[in-house]
Amino acid sequence: MARVNDSYLKLKAGYLFPEIGRRVRKFCDDHPEAKVIRLGIGDVTEPLPSVVCHAMHAAIDEMARRETFRGYGPEQGYEFLRAAIAEHDYRARGCEISADEIFVSDGSKCDTGNILEILGPENVVAVSDPVYPVYVDTNVMAGRTGIADADGRYAGLVYLEATEANGFVPEIPQQPVDVIYLCYPNNPTGMVADRQTLKKWVDYANANRAIIFFDAAYEAFITDPEIPHSIYEIPGARTCAIEFRSFSKTAGFTGTRCAFTVVPKDLAATDSNGNAVPLFDLWNRRQSTKFNGVSYVVQRGAEAVYSDQGRREVKELISFYLENARRLREGLERAGLTVYGGVNAPYVWLKTPTGTTSWQFFDQLLDRAHVVGTPGSGFGAAGEGFFRLSAFNSRENVDEAIGRVGRALA
Ligand code: MLT
Repeated sequence: MARVNDSYLKLKAGYLFPEIGRRVRKFCDDHPEAKVIRLGIGDVTEPLPSVVCHAMHAAIDEMARRETFRGYGPEQGYEFLRAAIAEHDYRARGCEISADEIFVSDGSKCDTGNILEILGPENVVAVSDPVYPVYVDTNVMAGRTGIADADGRYAGLVYLEATEANGFVPEIPQQPVDVIYLCYPNNPTGMVADRQTLKKWVDYANANRAIIFFDAAYEAFITDPEIPHSIYEIPGARTCAIEFRSFSKTAGFTGTRCAFTVVPKDLAATDSNGNAVPLFDLWNRRQSTKFNGVSYVVQRGAEAVYSDQGRREVKELISFYLENARRLREGLERAGLTVYGGVNAPYVWLKTPTGTTSWQFFDQLLDRAHVVGTPGSGFGAAGEGFFRLSAFNSRENVDEAIGRVGRALA
């Protein structure tokens, strides 16, 4: 008799964004005249940089000729892309990361979930609260948790609260943990971690032989020169951290799909006999077995992001979304709301009016302003009373949404 993975039955209802999509679809069916503006899921709206498109067209032409056609590529990614990443994202910032420590993939969401396969089930995992739900749900699926309580917190996970009181940057846990997820610039709060904060985590992880999963999917939005873009800017991170990066938000690749994960060769965890095992070897083994790499065409497109023109175009793209974030922040403040984030990040985290829960605010905004956001409680219990708006949209829609929200709250 076939059995399901019971761990899946512990998951709460639907994944957050499809659930929002379902509610919005119902609203649109009931109000077909409404012009709904979607600032919920952080999905890019602006076209790919032209240099990326040219590179992909040229790659297609190569694929069209027998002499330059390519079949399976290296599972870890083509050398041309890995070398460009190592050079521009790491060595240019003084980080010692070599091209062969970079594993190109089709997304950070997949990588942050898949990486759990190479770690034992007994690890104690810490996540911040609020948190990108993928970190939690993939641990539930992997059987690393008990069931969820009434607040949606799963037994066995350690939740580190990110609150107004701690500036949305959680404290180091009191109890020992083995794996820590950090995401900076943060999804959902849009807040950043300074060098000193990251150093505390790296020191903690090295002292406790813990591993940090550092999700830097939004690093391109950092404008403050004092804020680190990579965990490897912190001395000691090579022995305790895996970093996840993506072209999705940086260069508009949410539909094109390309990302990468850095696993330094110095990073090890312990087997059941107490021997140190390099995680590089296990991840390499995992990827070689279960993944056939990202398409050649897409990797050529990603490589073009590092050209002079690519860097200029990406900078313009990021500035465009950051200007949206600034307008959102200031517009919402004018509407009387308390607003966080949105300076070095594409997300604005606002406090819902007193006595209004996150989902109530979601419904109010949808009903009265036809604007979709993401309820803070969808990111965890500590997100209750907050609401996320994404700056990924056209200027016209962002300005229109600000006006509508202001009128709805007046
Ligand atoms: C979000 O809205 O939180 C992100 O778009 C989700 C993702 O990157 O998977």
